[in-house]
Amino acid sequence: MATAKVNTVTENINLRYWQDGSYFKSWYPVCLSTDLAPGTIKGIDFLNSRIIAYRGPDGAPIVQSAYCPHLGADLSLGQMVEGEVRCPYHHWRFNAAGVCTLVPTLGRGLPTAKIQPYPVAERWGLIWVFNGHEPVGEVPTLLGVTEDDVIFRTIDMGLHNVESWIPITNALDFQHVKTVHGFPHDKDGSNFVFGPTSISFDFDVSHPTGAGKVFYQNTFSMRDFQPFPPGHFIMPTSNSPFPNWHHQFGVVAVLKSACPAEQVEALLATLLACLRQLNEEDSQIIGTIRFRPRGDAKLVKSDRALALMLDYYDRLPRGAPLD
Ligand code: FES
Ligand SMILES: [Fe+2]
Repeated sequence: MATAKVNTVTENINLRYWQDGSYFKSWYPVCLSTDLAPGTIKGIDFLNSRIIAYRGPDGAPIVQSAYCPHLGADLSLGQMVEGEVRCPYHHWRFNAAGVCTLVPTLGRGLPTAKIQPYPVAERWGLIWVFNGHEPVGEVPTLLGVTEDDVIFRTIDMGLHNVESWIPITNALDFQHVKTVHGFPHDKDGSNFVFGPTSISFDFDVSHPTGAGKVFYQNTFSMRDFQPFPPGHFIMPTSNSPFPNWHHQFGVVAVLKSACPAEQVEALLATLLACLRQLNEEDSQIIGTIRFRPRGDAKLVKSDRALALMLDYYDRLPRGAPLD
């Protein structure tokens, strides 16, 4: 858990990546699909601000900034009334576009009073939110399959006292993959394919279909890595509720065509245990790390893949929360 020492350490990291108050523009998972019950409003800490999430009349998720433009009440304390959000304080109402449709004391709406809607998607058992008016890049996905191809499980893995981009450096820190986790994967970055918001690569020492992809700075999607048989998927991903913390979720899946039905549950349980074990093996190191800017870190030849990842981080778009 949080200690004064850990906070001091991670604040040093913020000087490099967060000093201008911006955050990585990214698709962030903000809650489980099952967390959004029809007719209820969920409040979520997000990028050092707050959002509300609820389902519209058609069941599709809607995400908006949480603070009422009147006097700033937290709208997650309000109610859904006739498909609209009603503020708990003076009962102003806001529609799916975020526009105030009713000020009770005026008997009409106030179109200039708005809450900010966020781009939102529902995939892999998660509600995803993009912190920009127009999404840049795709919603993170399991590699090479659709939801119909697999049986998947999605879990909430809780809050952790470190920025979300730091655990994801694990994905391409191949020294640690060997030393901490004992996996044989070894890459120098020469087969990385860089997109504007992703890094893709093949595990060529593993199964022929084995691959990994980092989406933005907060998601690592991988399939078919040793020691499991082909046809499996693991995807840790997280959001940034406030500085120095991330809220992690995990998706695991097995390919329907590759796994006998009677073995699916056991394999999913094994994959979830693997995901938790990987986290556990890293947690003490990652939770206390003092990650120096590259110019001060003694990176060596075998850190090349990681160095490429840090360059990629530098190129990722940044933006403030929309409120
Ligand atoms: S603070 Fe929301 S209606 Fe007044
Ligand atoms: Fe790790």
